[in-house]
Amino acid sequence: MFCSEPEVLMTDDEFRLIRDLIYTHCGLYFDNDSKYLLEKRLARRLSHHQLPAFRDYYHFLKYDRKRDQELSDIMDILTTNETYFFREAFQLKAFTDEIIPELMNVKAKRGDRTLRIWSAGCSTGEEPYTIAMLLLEMGCIKGWRVEIIGTDISQRVLQQARKAAYGKSSFRSTEEIYIKRYFQEQEGMFKVNDEVRELVTISHLNLFDQNRLALLGKMDVIFCRNVIIYFDQIAKKRVVESFYKSLREGGYLLLGHSESLMNISTAFALKHLKNDMVYHKPECAEFGGFA
Ligand SMILES: C[S@@+](CC[C@H](N)C(=O)[O-])C[C@H]1O[C@@H](n2cnc3c(N)ncnc32)[C@H](O)[C@@H]1O
Repeated sequence: MFCSEPEVLMTDDEFRLIRDLIYTHCGLYFDNDSKYLLEKRLARRLSHHQLPAFRDYYHFLKYDRKRDQELSDIMDILTTNETYFFREAFQLKAFTDEIIPELMNVKAKRGDRTLRIWSAGCSTGEEPYTIAMLLLEMGCIKGWRVEIIGTDISQRVLQQARKAAYGKSSFRSTEEIYIKRYFQEQEGMFKVNDEVRELVTISHLNLFDQNRLALLGKMDVIFCRNVIIYFDQIAKKRVVESFYKSLREGGYLLLGHSESLMNISTAFALKHLKNDMVYHKPECAEFGGFA
């Protein structure tokens, strides 16, 4: 007869300790209704480390010399990684039809032929590769040094992003022409071709790691779509303030369609483009606007 192992339950105290530790590490906030979810998702980690209770697991996460590795491992099970190519088409149209032409025009006049675009929270890579395909399709980047940097906190999704091989669900809103031009079919998957991959660098980055963020350098455009929805107000402010510092003056911040900077920052200007409303860091911007 099959006997399932008795499940370890999480007390309210243990929930609060672990929840707060995760929040401080990466900004993901689990409200009181998520106790069962956290208990279920972390139960395997207790058995993996042969720990009898969640209190021991909390001590492991806080003090063990392998704590960094464990925190990294649990990001793979706690984050939501849903994504696909050409997500939020109206915003991408604003990017190709208005943002990029304007930036290239302004930068070329200054003799600066570089473009740096950051896909922050890129998950399995569809977003940075979409950006690369759009730029190639525009046919305007010859003679420019283009860098598209995809970053995420989950090592598991980054491994997939580096493989760059995708199944059907990634293509739910991709026009056939892009599949023909920029992918090769391999063992039932579609692999992004080298021309696209050469424009993209995939790196591990926790948006709450201020030291690593400072090393990224200045960006012209930051895509951070469907990432800050999982943060509370304080965490959102922190991340958006970092984005402001990372953007060049005149640069753009593109959030997901359900996200806004209302009650978060007045430092960015909301710009009405033909296809979308986007956040813009004004030229000659002064640092401010964060409550
Ligand atoms: C829902 S996906 C969004 C993917 C893509 N930007 C899009 O809109 O299709 C959210 C991603 O944000 C990442 N993420 C969450 N918290 C993060 C943090 N503190 N630092 C970096 N990435 C984080 C998750 O691992 C996940 O892959």
